[in-house]
Amino acid sequence: MNTATATDAALINESTERAKTETLLSPRFYRTDIKALEKMDLSSVHDEWEAMMDEYRNDSNSNHFVRDEKFAEEVKELPPALHEEFKDFLISSVTSEFSGCVLYADIKKHIKHPQLKELMGYMARDESRHAGFINSALKDFDLQVNLGFLRKEKKYTYFRPKFIFYATYLSEKIGYARYITIFRHLEKHPENRFHPIFRWFERWCNDEFRHGESFALMMKANPHLLRGHNKLWIRFFLLAVFATMYVRDHSREELHNAFGINTTEYDRKVLHITSEISKQIFPFALDLDNEKFWQRLDRLSALSQLNEAARARGGLGGLLTRAKCSVLSFGVFARLYMMPTVPNELPETVRMAPAW
Ligand SMILES: [Fe+2]
Ligand SMILES: [Fe+2]
Repeated sequence: MNTATATDAALINESTERAKTETLLSPRFYRTDIKALEKMDLSSVHDEWEAMMDEYRNDSNSNHFVRDEKFAEEVKELPPALHEEFKDFLISSVTSEFSGCVLYADIKKHIKHPQLKELMGYMARDESRHAGFINSALKDFDLQVNLGFLRKEKKYTYFRPKFIFYATYLSEKIGYARYITIFRHLEKHPENRFHPIFRWFERWCNDEFRHGESFALMMKANPHLLRGHNKLWIRFFLLAVFATMYVRDHSREELHNAFGINTTEYDRKVLHITSEISKQIFPFALDLDNEKFWQRLDRLSALSQLNEAARARGGLGGLLTRAKCSVLSFGVFARLYMMPTVPNELPETVRMAPAW
């Protein structure tokens, strides 16, 4: 192996290792019970389903994820702290896009249910384009995530289908809200667009929105998933997805400073958008107007940063601090979970207004 190739391999390894790392906040890879999915009856949402599938079939983004001539010119050297956070942002984004791709492709490959097979094929197509596009941006920084290796080596978490529905629905919708909020902000402040990839976010977020709609329809066709004890699970996933984003974003202040966005304001906006959208299907929302909710998220974020500092310090002291942070975080999360939710006033029959 010559020196250049050895260096390339080391760089691919470094970013792939980061993408492979499992922490509470890092994107995960999922597998689910395909036999259970085979039984899904979608007849009650037939017309909405077909309208949505026509959108997928028309594939309005087929030529979108291609770099234009200006792309390379707009890639510039970034200050070291921003460079580091932006790299982290790209690696965690490529991992989460690819996580969707792997899950949808796996279901498509093994399932016989014709409607789900078709849907999963289209969603895997979209996520593979997204992941490939981010990976090409990483290449400009002499980095690349080895997606084939990641598919084989990353740990998979098994989730029952209903957990996949709650978690994936929310991550698709939160992805939409994040991309559109960044895109609209940078439209107003083009001087802060420090990388060309953000120009792609508007049409990109339409894909994520549609993926979210697909899961909403599957839940609508199976309303028992939205009732009884399942409401406790919905509350858990709403909180877990929202808190993960809040804590992760607050460890990336440089990135938000470069956008000229206040991290807390940005997160509040994204979570409000996601929460409003989720009323299309969930019977309640978290009470985002209660200031205690945000204070507790701030506490979780502070504990996560203490935990990270202790991890970096290492030793017995570090270990003890980390143990204490875990116990305290669990307590804050439990208090958040116990907070009263806001009932969804939209009647079940009118909730799912098609957005396409
Ligand atoms: Fe995506
Ligand atoms: Fe998606």
